Amino acid sequence: MLVREFRLKDLERVYKIEKESFDLPYDINILKELYNIGAGFLVGVENDKVIGYIIFWIKDEFLGHIISIAVSEKYQNNGVGRKLLSKAIELFIAFQINKIKLEVKATDVKAINFYKKAGFVETNFLHSYYGKGVDGIRMLLDLQYAPKKN
Ligand SMILES: CC(C)(COP(=O)(O)OP(=O)(O)OC[C@H]1O[C@@H](n2cnc3c(N)ncnc32)[C@H](O)[C@@H]1OP(=O)(O)O)[C@@H](O)C(=O)NCCC(=O)NCCS
Repeated sequence: MLVREFRLKDLERVYKIEKESFDLPYDINILKELYNIGAGFLVGVENDKVIGYIIFWIKDEFLGHIISIAVSEKYQNNGVGRKLLSKAIELFIAFQINKIKLEVKATDVKAINFYKKAGFVETNFLHSYYGKGVDGIRMLLDLQYAPKKN
């Protein structure tokens, strides 16, 4: 699988994966706007087809934020998510970012395990973060203490 920068021609495909993956997907215009304002935006490509993506952002001088990551269902559990996350972490490191945060639905055990495997730890319980009764968890990766290989 190739990991490359997002291009506008990928927008419809990324939006399709986003819709398949989340109950509350980002609107296509928001995805486009994230690209336009210069958020980190990578896609995983296999046989010319976008099969996953990651969007991230430098939140503060030393703090990065993962905005969204998803892998098309058919391609999950094959290391695609891990590769996308590793590439984003590499870029954060290049920008001297030493902490990365993200939010995930409290019931999304698979995603929480996925992040834990990459060294993230749970830091906060976010009551009704995704709307009334839909709680979130904030997770943090401290790159000073993370294993060298992600
Ligand atoms: C979360 C997601 C991005 C992971 O991508 P993926 O390509 O399926 O994950 P990978 O194959 O790279 O898995 C990496 C690690 O995550 C963990 N993992 C993956 N699937 C898992 C599962 N079903 N149960 C528990 N852990 C799992 C494993 O520990 C795996 O490591 P291993 O290969 O050494 O066992 C993907 O499942 C997805 O798009 N889910 C829907 C959208 C979503 O939940 N996004 C994140 C929410 S913020």
